[in-house]
Amino acid sequence: MEKFIDLISRRVSHAFEEAGLDGRLGKVTVSNRPDLCEYQCNGAMPAAKAAHRPPLELAQAVAERLQGEAMFSRVEAVKPGFLNLVVQEDALRDYVAQMAQAPAFGVEGESAPKTIVLDYGGPNVAKPLHVGHLRSAIIGESLKRIDRFFGNRVIGDIHMGDWGLQMGLIIEEVRERHPELPYFDENYTGEYPAEAPFTISELEEIYPTASAKSKVDEDFARRAHDATYKLQTGERGYRAMWEHIMRISKEDLRKNYDNLDVHFDVWLGESDAQKDIPPMLEAMKARGIVTESEGALVVDVQEPTDTKEVPPCILVKSDGATLYATTDLATLVQRMRDYQPDKVLYLTDKRQALHFEQVFRAARKGGLVPDQAELQHVGFGTMNGKDGKPFKTREGGVMRLERLIGEITDYVRQKITENQVVDEGEVDQTARRIAMAALKYGDLSNQPTKDYIFDLERFAAFEGNTGPYILYTIVRIKSILAKYGAGVEPKALQRAETKEAKDLMLTLTRLGESLEAAYHDNAPNAICAYIYELAGAANKFYHETRILTETDAAKKAGYVALMDLTRRVLEQCIDLLGFSAPERM
Ligand code: ARG
Repeated sequence: MEKFIDLISRRVSHAFEEAGLDGRLGKVTVSNRPDLCEYQCNGAMPAAKAAHRPPLELAQAVAERLQGEAMFSRVEAVKPGFLNLVVQEDALRDYVAQMAQAPAFGVEGESAPKTIVLDYGGPNVAKPLHVGHLRSAIIGESLKRIDRFFGNRVIGDIHMGDWGLQMGLIIEEVRERHPELPYFDENYTGEYPAEAPFTISELEEIYPTASAKSKVDEDFARRAHDATYKLQTGERGYRAMWEHIMRISKEDLRKNYDNLDVHFDVWLGESDAQKDIPPMLEAMKARGIVTESEGALVVDVQEPTDTKEVPPCILVKSDGATLYATTDLATLVQRMRDYQPDKVLYLTDKRQALHFEQVFRAARKGGLVPDQAELQHVGFGTMNGKDGKPFKTREGGVMRLERLIGEITDYVRQKITENQVVDEGEVDQTARRIAMAALKYGDLSNQPTKDYIFDLERFAAFEGNTGPYILYTIVRIKSILAKYGAGVEPKALQRAETKEAKDLMLTLTRLGESLEAAYHDNAPNAICAYIYELAGAANKFYHETRILTETDAAKKAGYVALMDLTRRVLEQCIDLLGFSAPERM
């Protein structure tokens, strides 16, 4: 469906042309003086400049041509040359009723759907998930859903960090503890045990122990490096140990991400890119772009237009080791081969911006990606504690994701238990849902690039610009619908008779531009801002309107239809943000 604001603009543009003016100046915006009008057009001012005539005169000429236009109940030209527009209630009603019956509320998908690889999550295997990975998962999941909503084919890849030094550290630590295990016997030729020699909780203790040890014990650090090297060059026993670590960690990761309602389509990682590294390096060398610098192989990626220094992209270190960038380049080769994406989007902390700039430039120079394929890094800010520093536990340690979710859920559980509206059997599930809304909305309502402060009381409040407030609005509407009992008929929508009803309808018409803004700018915060406004309009309408006690059946059915559409739009939007509403709260 054409967006409501575009429909209005089209009418006004037409009137501009009829008045002998440039139609492009007829663009309409939402009024910044809602006390005076609903929409406005400022095009008479630039038109006046071009025509050397007073702006008010031109605005009047346009207004005249709009008299009798069914779309508007009032069109006024006011000083110095604004056009103030008030929408006609029947036209609005018809539009909203159409929205209610159209697939996707009439929001149009991408005319040329793209294939998009979304690289998000990025956990490091065997290291516990911490809040630093939280934003990537939350924002990524939302972008995945938004991109899909617009009809694109999206492949969400978790891209695990599963090939680095942490693996060598773990292997070496296990070796110290259990040197008798067959994995460490070079002469062992039999099958390795199917069971891992550790559980997930042991694994989570092994890594930090080994990591701390490597910082004080040089010899251990060297052995861990050797172990990493042996693993990466295919030592059988190490490889078998790595498989154990992978299986156990992946199981745990899956559980964690499921809890967050974050779902990946493919579970590839840095290890999967290794086989593409040698041919990638050959391809780069064949292009003549690889140079040697102090024994390392690098690609110079500085461009003459750069205002800052962009250091060369290092492909191979002087000791023969490959790096993060090497793996990312090889991963691009794999992605291009397997999915032919039009776009690859990476979601990490913004501190990795330079890394991606180097990788993208090297990939282009090396011809690893076709020219038309877009490479984009969305770098996000940090989730901070109230002290303004990266969020920590009360004891000052790294906050594990599981614990964070647990703490929010406990807080919410207590709150809803006090309220006593949720049946006991539903408390746990409801608390989880509200906790997710608090956490995700708290994050997504900020511009991704900005840092924000995690504030449990504020995020979990049932009032204000929060996830739980949105859920509360949905739950309230659900309860009205349940009490109404009869089926909801979108066609029953009535023309708005009150300001509250009209505001709600006008807000509903703005769904399309909000979703488009979120889609084009990778900005779920646009959806949050929209649903906060929509929920506000819905609550005002609810307060000012006797819905269930209305005696006129047609009116009552109309109110209910309006409430139901609002609920559906809200539920669609929170689904795009990655959470859902309970029945009661
Ligand atoms: N594992 C990395 C980290 O924890 C994030 C990976 C992001 N994706 C990528 N293709 N580099 O920082």
